[in-house]
Amino acid sequence: MAAIEFNNLTKRYDSGIHGIHRLNLKVGDGELMVLVGPSGCGKSTLLRMTAGLEEVSSGEIRIDDRVVNHIPPQQRNVAMVFQNYALYPHMTVRGNLAFPLRMQKQPAMLIEERVRRIAEILDLTPLLDRRPKALSGGQRQRVAMGRAIIRKADIFLMDEPLSNLDARLRVEIRGEIARLQRQLAITTLYVTHDQAEAMTLGQRVAVIDRGLLQQVGSPQEIYERPANAFVARFIGSPGMNLIQSSLYRENGGIQLQLGPRRLPIPQRVLTDFPGLATHSEESVLVGIRPHAIHLSDTDSNETLPARVCTTEAMGHETIVHLDTALAIDNSHQARGDQTHLLVQLTGHHNFSAGEQLAIRIGIDDLCFFDSDGEAIR
Ligand SMILES: Nc1ncnc2c1ncn2[C@@H]1O[C@H](COP(=O)(O)OP(=O)(O)OP(=O)(O)O)[C@@H](O)[C@H]1O
Ligand SMILES: [Mg+2]
Repeated sequence: MAAIEFNNLTKRYDSGIHGIHRLNLKVGDGELMVLVGPSGCGKSTLLRMTAGLEEVSSGEIRIDDRVVNHIPPQQRNVAMVFQNYALYPHMTVRGNLAFPLRMQKQPAMLIEERVRRIAEILDLTPLLDRRPKALSGGQRQRVAMGRAIIRKADIFLMDEPLSNLDARLRVEIRGEIARLQRQLAITTLYVTHDQAEAMTLGQRVAVIDRGLLQQVGSPQEIYERPANAFVARFIGSPGMNLIQSSLYRENGGIQLQLGPRRLPIPQRVLTDFPGLATHSEESVLVGIRPHAIHLSDTDSNETLPARVCTTEAMGHETIVHLDTALAIDNSHQARGDQTHLLVQLTGHHNFSAGEQLAIRIGIDDLCFFDSDGEAIR
């Protein structure tokens, strides 16, 4: 059992690139935290520093209140599944799984029982006598994961452990990891660039971009109240639409200019977002989730015109790409150029490219960001 704490942690590579910049984050004892962000944002760098495989440039890593910056990897009792894992080629799957326990000189009976149990969980039982070269990429990856979780480490570090698996196995093993982690209550830092994986797996999710922590919170918190425009766009499938718009003070209230329309912001929304009052007369980014945009049969002063670009039929839902004239410039004039919006509709819908539609955007479904992209609350 162990909590992990990063204080002002920085990794600056010799090339001058910041892998991680001034990170402050705490992973609770027994917690499963998912670290998510685009390729190159510093996820592997952070895991490797935690495991002791990468030197820290400044700041500290604490495991259970002990600064471990200079503690060698073997003494950290951390099990890591690497993004580029390696198995012992001359050993069978059974041998690979058993290896960490053999090193610990565990009794043969116990080793056999643990190998049997892990093989069952990871669907490896029929493969126990094969060597790695006779396995598919996904099967090898499961062996690598089994080898990490077979020994009872204080901390699990998992670097995209499911990236080689097909969609069905991914979902299945994701469920197993969550169940196993809860059962063993081992502090886990799990890395992925897949936001859907982060949202389904994490008790809390930490979103990173270019080495900087953007937000940490429960999946629901970061989905419903993204801290900035990056998180809004990154989380969700598809991510949030962001529209350049502006706020006006008029007749004692605040109005939102959205393309050609001026929508009064009701008092309940102003109560939810008190920050809006201090941003009136400014340009803002308005965020709306693709499922919160509705199609309307009739044009009215509450709808906006849009033109279909393409549609993606997913079976249970249809994603429609639309062009709309929603952008406005700094002098609050409609610019006339096109804003691309994604709309997510339940069920199957047929539209042809170029078709004109009317869309309705509910004012209660909006998020607001200032000109720096920070959420207005
Ligand atoms: N040994 C190194 N020397 C110099 N720069 C490095 C080194 N390792 C990583 N970097 C750089 O540091 C940044 C973070 O890399 P890192 O591998 O941590 O990203 P990541 O989030 O794990 O990406 P991915 O999702 O593609 O695995 C990148 O810009 C990368 O090019
Ligand atoms: Mg990586």
